[in-house]
Amino acid sequence: MQVDVSGIPQRVTPDETPIIEAVGVVRTFGKGSAAVHALRGANLRISPGRLVALKGRSGSGKTTLLNMLGALDRPTDGAIYFKGNDITRWSDRQRNELRRTELGLIFQSFALVPYMSAYENVEFGLRIAGVPAARRKAYAEQALEFVGLKARMKHRPYEMSGGEQQRVAIARAISHRPSLLLADEPTAELDSKMGLQVMKVFKDLVQKEGMTIVLTTHDPAIMEIVDQVYALEDGHIVEEG
Ligand SMILES: Nc1ncnc2c1ncn2[C@@H]1O[C@H](COP(=O)(O)OP(=O)(O)OP(=O)(O)O)[C@@H](O)[C@H]1O
Ligand SMILES: [Mg+2]
Repeated sequence: MQVDVSGIPQRVTPDETPIIEAVGVVRTFGKGSAAVHALRGANLRISPGRLVALKGRSGSGKTTLLNMLGALDRPTDGAIYFKGNDITRWSDRQRNELRRTELGLIFQSFALVPYMSAYENVEFGLRIAGVPAARRKAYAEQALEFVGLKARMKHRPYEMSGGEQQRVAIARAISHRPSLLLADEPTAELDSKMGLQVMKVFKDLVQKEGMTIVLTTHDPAIMEIVDQVYALEDGHIVEEG
């Protein structure tokens, strides 16, 4: 048993700190009568090593929230804590650094560079992330191996299925070994079989690598697979267990 000599209440284990937390997050687009209240005080608390889904009807604010969790956008009011630090107070430089090192982002449309092979797409991502050249080859190959595409790494996106392209996008997003992966409707453009392949990769990342993943989805089959589901309604978040 540890004795607390400081007199300051301490957390029992560091794991109790959420990896990402939204507190009273408000996001309003525009002003006056044209204002859109996308989020009206959203709260979210996610522990490390979990696979979490964010659901809600179109326009409910899923992408808006994900962009703020990913330090791509700032709330109008409220705070976002990453590992206990309020990143809404950070400078643009600090936020860029956070994105480059700790975060991985995946979009619905894969966003691969069409004339680059799978390997080059991943390697390019590492270059942008500032990973030294000496490490890029190994990191890129390991990430492609993780998603089951090492044998196809010389192929270009148009030579691959939608599921394979999304797995390349996942490899690119995880190659710099982020602790938090944010994915906006990563299976929306895939059929159910390919969608399950992608979900299997996400499950493995959580279980084998201890990564935390927050994804948005409309798919009820995916809500069955994840550890935790949050629903966005009228700019607020309701936890569904
Ligand atoms: N840059 C913007 N300027 C103005 N309004 C915006 C902007 N981005 C989003 N909105 C509005 O905020 C609301 C939430 O949008 P958001 O994209 O977060 O919804 P969503 O839940 O991701 O929807 P979908 O399921 O269709 O992707 C919508 O009413 C949208 O029109
Ligand atoms: Mg969206």
